[in-house]
Amino acid sequence: MAFPKHVRLVEVGPRDGLQNEPEPITTATKLALIDRLGAAGIRYIEAASFVSPKWVPQMADHREVMTGITRRDGVTYAALTPNLKGLEAALECGVEEVAVFGAASEAFSQKNINCSVAESLARFEPVLERAQQAGVRVRGYVSCVLGCPYEGEIAPAKVAEVSKALYEMGCYEVSLGDTIGVGTPLKAKRMLEAVSHEVPMAQLAAHFHDTYGQALANLYAVLEEGIAVVDSSVAGLGGCPYAKGASGNVASEDVIYLLNGLGIETGIDLDALAATGTWITQAIGRPNRSKVGVALAAK
Ligand code: HMG
Ligand code: MG
Repeated sequence: MAFPKHVRLVEVGPRDGLQNEPEPITTATKLALIDRLGAAGIRYIEAASFVSPKWVPQMADHREVMTGITRRDGVTYAALTPNLKGLEAALECGVEEVAVFGAASEAFSQKNINCSVAESLARFEPVLERAQQAGVRVRGYVSCVLGCPYEGEIAPAKVAEVSKALYEMGCYEVSLGDTIGVGTPLKAKRMLEAVSHEVPMAQLAAHFHDTYGQALANLYAVLEEGIAVVDSSVAGLGGCPYAKGASGNVASEDVIYLLNGLGIETGIDLDALAATGTWITQAIGRPNRSKVGVALAAK
């Protein structure tokens, strides 16, 4: 298959990027980050997470974030909603899109959302129904698609089964998460092949973390297979609190540099994005994990 002509970038920095930060980050900093990302041309921003503040304290200001955004035309501001309680709160805050998040690993599902995979799917059904009533689209995540911190290897067939369930339930897109960044390109291709028998390629997204430095290589491999939606995080921030050892998402700046080089359009201003990466890492006192961001800042 040929590379896609256009890729839609899903910027998860304000959510996946910040959720695991140990020091409190002010709502104002989060809002400034979201605004800068929109100004750089990003059209889809996962802005908040309506999860339990006991489970993920960093996302406790989800209401303030979601209602505080200065919305830009053409930009979708989305949030994670693991259950009806989260969805109702997100709807009250005017969320445009939400995401439910499941896993291809039983152990990870228990650690992350306190229920089995089957229970999680049953929990998502009313979320999808209610969201549909409210006219809000729902994205679905599957975690641990290339390995689990607790179970190790995950069978591509299991990833395909959970992806299919989310798609059939009404998720318009299923994002495939290499939560702990252990995948390698051929493994990523094989997993995608299994999933794409159940869910059309156009309805799939790649959500790769970069723990082992393989995320860009894995992305190249799945782009070649026809993936045209990529999740990433500015400055490579991120990690899941319930996946030990999980480091950041692939950096948005590095993804844009790669896509620019491949002649794939995104509509995103790389310089503005890199400046945002420099700014947020300084603001929260974290290293910039984007090689492209660091190189551009040194110019
Ligand atoms: P639970 O304890 O089983 O839920 O948690 P519960 O229904 O029994 O409720 C217990 C308490 O939580 C109650 O409060 C509820 O009101 C409250 P209490 O009576 O004890 O005061 N509660 C909530 N509060 C706020 N918002 C809610 C909510 N729901 C219940 N929505 C639950 C179940 C799912 C809530 C919990 O396990 C949780 O919040 N987990 C979130 C974990 C998480 O956010 N992980 C990171 C995101 S996933 C990720 O990063 C992976 C991804 O990036 C893809 C990849 O990389 O693979 C997406
Ligand atoms: Mg993630």
